[in-house]
Amino acid sequence: MDVKLLCLTVVLLSSPLLTLCDPLFVLSAPNLLRVGSSENVFVEAQDYSGGNLNVTVSVKNFPKKDMEITDKTVTLTAENNYQILTDIKIPDDQDFFSDDPLEKQYVYLQAQFPSHTLEKVIMVSFQSGYIFVQTDKPIYTPASTGRYEYVLSKVHNVISVNFD
Ligand SMILES: *[C@@H]1O[C@H](CO)[C@@H](O)[C@H](O)[C@H]1NC(C)=O
Repeated sequence: MDVKLLCLTVVLLSSPLLTLCDPLFVLSAPNLLRVGSSENVFVEAQDYSGGNLNVTVSVKNFPKKDMEITDKTVTLTAENNYQILTDIKIPDDQDFFSDDPLEKQYVYLQAQFPSHTLEKVIMVSFQSGYIFVQTDKPIYTPASTGRYEYVLSKVHNVISVNFD
């Protein structure tokens, strides 16, 4: 995974009070999180040296912020240069999301460092991003209708799973 490339397309957050002596805490993630897919999240303590830091990366519902959708804890150490690229997967769960496909929905992404919490509101997408139908023929030829119906109903099932 190319971290530099990732950083070009991400939400970048840092501690607002920045002095030469203080470490810079960084949380970096895609600016759109796909529900049901693994998404990369990068956390770092720049200019930090010392004991290990446990960082809890969590996703909470927006705007109420009263439910934890998913979370995981990573440990920044001297060995990993106090930086970790990890992945989170937001479960497709109706308790957390409205099933209205037109509604824009968001989550809070948090990284809790021992001394700081970084937080960002990020939009979620219910498009899994891998569904497409490609054929080498026009779809509506009488002989092959059955097969294409089968393919389309498969696709439809996948979409239903995502929205129901
Ligand atoms: C950090 O996490 C590790 C493994 O989960 C645990 O053993 C350790 O006690 C934690 N350290 C702190 C300072 O909480």
